[in-house]
Amino acid sequence: MTVTAPAPEESVPAPIRLELPPLKLGKHTIDVPVILAPMAGITNRAFRRLCREYGGGVYVTEMVTSRALVERNEESMRIISHDPDEELRSVQLYGVDPKTVGAAVRMIVEEDRADHIDLNFGCPVPKVTRKGGGSALPWKTDLFTSIIKAATTEAARGEVPLTIKMRKGINEDHLTYIESGKIARDHGVAAVALHGRTASQYYSGKADWDAIAKLRESLPDVPVLGNGDIFSAEDAVAMVAQTGVDGIVVGRGCMGRPWLFGDLQAAFEGTDVRHRPGMAEVAASVYRHAELLVDYFGDEGKGLRDMRKHMAWYFKGYQAGGELRASLAQVSTLEELSGLLALLDMSVGYPGKDAEGTRGRAGSPKATKLPDGWLDSREMDEKHKAMISAAELDISGG
Ligand SMILES: Cc1cc2nc3c(=O)[nH]c(=O)nc-3n(C[C@H](O)[C@H](O)[C@H](O)COP(=O)(O)O)c2cc1C
Repeated sequence: MTVTAPAPEESVPAPIRLELPPLKLGKHTIDVPVILAPMAGITNRAFRRLCREYGGGVYVTEMVTSRALVERNEESMRIISHDPDEELRSVQLYGVDPKTVGAAVRMIVEEDRADHIDLNFGCPVPKVTRKGGGSALPWKTDLFTSIIKAATTEAARGEVPLTIKMRKGINEDHLTYIESGKIARDHGVAAVALHGRTASQYYSGKADWDAIAKLRESLPDVPVLGNGDIFSAEDAVAMVAQTGVDGIVVGRGCMGRPWLFGDLQAAFEGTDVRHRPGMAEVAASVYRHAELLVDYFGDEGKGLRDMRKHMAWYFKGYQAGGELRASLAQVSTLEELSGLLALLDMSVGYPGKDAEGTRGRAGSPKATKLPDGWLDSREMDEKHKAMISAAELDISGG
């Protein structure tokens, strides 16, 4: 397989055009106010490179836990690594203990390992919320405040802007986002990102863009970034129009579609140009993604195993045949991948709607698992303090 340039472009009508000034993140000015959402298992150096080749913006690493980072765990050090040409090196940290989060931020700042740090308060995974971590944590305002304070204090020493990313709250009866946004602003964060879902919603239903608008209104003095259900440039336009946010955060929409960042940049520049890749372009992108993953992991088997999950996303809506799809999802070497891709009908054009719309995690709402008595008070008690550190072990993703 040879590598080809980004997919061909064609002009389609766009209903509204975005007019947004560049995004200010502390001392940085981001011309295209688009952020690749941190996604565990997805937004590694390889995928970020593919996305960056299509458009501008901020491209965040997968989440790394503060504890693993301060212990210099090998995988964590790999997660926070960047390509030399990543102009704005952005890292996402997760943590439940102010001291450890502070130490992780200090390490990043002192060793000049990033230009932007995001803190993750949105993880809905039961094994984490059950111990009071992830999206359960902002409910405890004392702990939340201490973490933000520790992080912003350390980040300020190196003038590294620090942002937070959160959900609306635990559930509709226990919303935290406005209060958390204000606490974060009062302690000097550079921006606040809101995924318009509660923890209990997981990835189900629709993201609540009205909540994003409400946060924007409640925090006139800090950039607010909107996240949830942007699957196209038109969705991005609609979110900005509906919420007034200063920038957008895109997660699942770019899985198997790194060219979405080209469409987003075009929308922000007021043009109607959109990428509409045919099969040949998709196949080239798949191969390139695999090559980059092999390079990232330094191991062909590992790179290809990691590539498998992307196949269904890349070929969503394209006629690829069930058996071929199944083989692609079990591929083990670059040579095998090349052979399988050669079996595709490269004359197939862009399938339109079938390749668009929702993709990735969805699931159904479920009551958020919480420690006993967690909701009884907004402050930590001794019992909860003793259990919270376990919420940082063995976690990945949001
Ligand atoms: C596979 C996957 C991994 C994720 N990992 C993280 C993560 O590490 N940190 C985080 O803050 N959010 C994580 N998220 C949540 C996304 O960043 C984003 O908030 C969410 O997908 C909603 O945005 P979207 O509708 O654009 O996908 C993850 C989501 C997915 C689907």
